[in-house]
Amino acid sequence: MMNRTHTNGELRLCDAGSQVSLIGWVTKRRNFGSLVFIDLRDRTGITQLVFDENMAKKISDVRNEYILEVHGIVAERKDKNPQLPTGDIEIQVQEVSVINTANTTPLIIADETDALEDTRLKYRYLDLRRPIMQNKLIMRHKITRSLRDYLDHHDFVEIETPLLAKSTPEGARDYLVPSRIHTGSFYALPQSPQLFKQLLMISGFERYYQFARCFRDEDLRADRQTDFTQLDIETSFLNEQQIQAMSEEMMVKLMKDVLNIDIPSPFLRLTYEEAMNRYGSDKPDNRFGMELHDITSVFQHSQFKVFKDCIASQGAIKAIVVPEKADMSRKEIDRITDLAKKNGAKGLVSLKYMENALQGAVVKFFSEAELQGLTSALQLKDQDLVLIISDCWQTSCEVLGALRNHFGEVLGLKKKDEFSFLWVVDFPMFEYSEEDGRYYAKHHPFTRPKEEDLVYLDSDPGKVRANAYDMVLNGYELGGGSLRIYDAQMQEKIFSVLGFSDEDIEERFGFFVHAFQYGTPPHGGLAFGLDRIAMILTQSDSIRDVIAFPKNANAKCPMSEAPTPVDQAQLDELHLSVEWE
Ligand code: AMO
Repeated sequence: MMNRTHTNGELRLCDAGSQVSLIGWVTKRRNFGSLVFIDLRDRTGITQLVFDENMAKKISDVRNEYILEVHGIVAERKDKNPQLPTGDIEIQVQEVSVINTANTTPLIIADETDALEDTRLKYRYLDLRRPIMQNKLIMRHKITRSLRDYLDHHDFVEIETPLLAKSTPEGARDYLVPSRIHTGSFYALPQSPQLFKQLLMISGFERYYQFARCFRDEDLRADRQTDFTQLDIETSFLNEQQIQAMSEEMMVKLMKDVLNIDIPSPFLRLTYEEAMNRYGSDKPDNRFGMELHDITSVFQHSQFKVFKDCIASQGAIKAIVVPEKADMSRKEIDRITDLAKKNGAKGLVSLKYMENALQGAVVKFFSEAELQGLTSALQLKDQDLVLIISDCWQTSCEVLGALRNHFGEVLGLKKKDEFSFLWVVDFPMFEYSEEDGRYYAKHHPFTRPKEEDLVYLDSDPGKVRANAYDMVLNGYELGGGSLRIYDAQMQEKIFSVLGFSDEDIEERFGFFVHAFQYGTPPHGGLAFGLDRIAMILTQSDSIRDVIAFPKNANAKCPMSEAPTPVDQAQLDELHLSVEWE
C-alpha cells in the first residue's frame, strides 16, 4: 500500500469519520477481550488503533516494533487520553499489512529508560527511536535552521573549509591522519577553522559562517566531545561591540524561534576579573547567588599562620556562605574539603554561624575584631556555613567557584528552564605556566591585545588584556572569539612573547603570516558550540544526548567500536608500524 494519508501525531476529533491510512511502529499492544488495541508510533506521535475480533486474527503475532500499515476510519474515543494530542480519537482498523517484523529490542522504546548509557550507545539506532531523543535531534535541527536563517539575512556567506589540514592553534591535542602519498607526513583534523576563516577575510568575503566539524583529542566531559560542531563566524570591519550585538540578536531570535522565550538584551557584561572575583569562574552561572566575598582585608593582621602567609605572599582570602548548612556533618565537610583539594586548594577553612557566634576548629586563632569583621562582611545569618580559601588570587577564586557550583547543583538552584546569557569580556591575553616557565595565549596567538595594554607587552605580559570575549549560558561557555591581529609586526611581537622562534613561526604558520602582507582587513569573530546550545535548550544533562552518534566518556563508539585496530596491509600502505607496550 505505502500510501499514508496522515502521520501518527496529526489526527484530532474534527477528523472523526474520515478514512485514513497510517504507517508506524507498534509501541504497545493490549488485548482487551476480543478487541486488540495498538499504539502506532512515528516521529510525530502516537495514534491508537482498534482491531475487532476479525481484524485481530490478522495481527495475532504482531509485537512491539513491528511496522504496520493500516487503513481505517477515525472514531471518537470513549476513554479519552488527555496526555496525548491524538488522545480524543482512535482508528477502527479495516485493513492491515505487516511491513516488517522486529526482534525483541534490547532497550524499551519509551521516554523513560533504565538502560545503561553504553547499551543506549551500542544500540543507538534504537535509542534514537525513543520520542524524547527524536525531539532533541529535531530541536537541534530547528536551532541550526534559526541560526542559519539569521546569518543568511545578514549577508553572511556559508563556506566550507578543509577537514584534512594543518595543525591549528586551539591548544588541544590534534587528531592526525597519515598521508599515503606523502610518506611520514600527516594531516591534522581541524580543532577549528580558525586560520581558514581569517584567510577568507583576507580574501574579502567580509562575512563568513560555517557549521564546522571540529576535532580535539582531549579528555571528555558532559559538555565535551572528540568531534563536535561549531557555528563558526568571522567578520571584517566590525568592532567588538558590533560583533557582540549581532551575536546577541541571533541568540534572542534563536530563543524565540525554538522555545518561544523572550530573552532580555543587551546581555550582562562581566569583565574576566569581575567574573572571577564574584563567581570564581570565567563562565559564571548567575541563575543563583552565593557569590564569593573577598575577606583579605578582615585578616590583614591575622595571627593564623595560613592567613598570615597568604597575606605575606599577596594572595587572596575569599569566602562563600552556604545558607542553612551549618548542620553539615564532619564527613560531609571532609567531602567538600576533598572537592576543594581536587580543584587545587591546599586546604579549606569551614566555620558555622550558630546562635550569633562563629564556630569551628580555627576560630581560636581569630581575634574578636576579626570575628566581628567576618560576620559583618559576610552578613551572616543563623545556620550559615562559611567556606574560606586562602591562596593565590586565581586559586582562591577557582576553588570557591567550584564549591559554589557544587552547592548550586546539590541545592537545586540551577533551574533548567531558566536561561541566563551573559558575556565575559577583557580576558587576559596570556597565561603563565609555572611548569613550563613560559606564557601561553589564553585564547589563541592571533587575538588582538587591548591597545591601552600594549605598554605592558615587554614589561609584564600577564597584565595585558585581550579583545577576547565569551558568551556564557547557565554556566557553560557557549561560544568565544576575539578581534584578530591584522598587522604583521604586532603578530610577530605576540609570537615572540609566546617564545616562538622564527623557524617555529615559519614552519607552523608560515602560509598564514605571509598572507598578512597583502592588505589584511581588521577582522574578528567567534565560534559557538552548537552541541552545547542544543544540550542547554533541550535541558539535557550531557552533550551526548543531542549528538546522533556520540562517543562515550572513554572516547569510544560502543556501536561501531571505533577506534579499532586496522589491517597490517593498511598500515604497510601508510608506512606505519604500531609498537605495542
Ligand atoms: P573555542 O576553542 O573557545 O574557540 O571554541 C568555541 C566553542 O566551541 C565549543 N567547544 C566544544 N564543544 C564540544 N566539545 C568540545 N571538545 C569543545 N571545544 C570547544 C565551546 C566553545 O565556546 N577558533 C576559536 C573561535 C574564534 O576565535 O573565533 C575557537 O575554536 O562552546
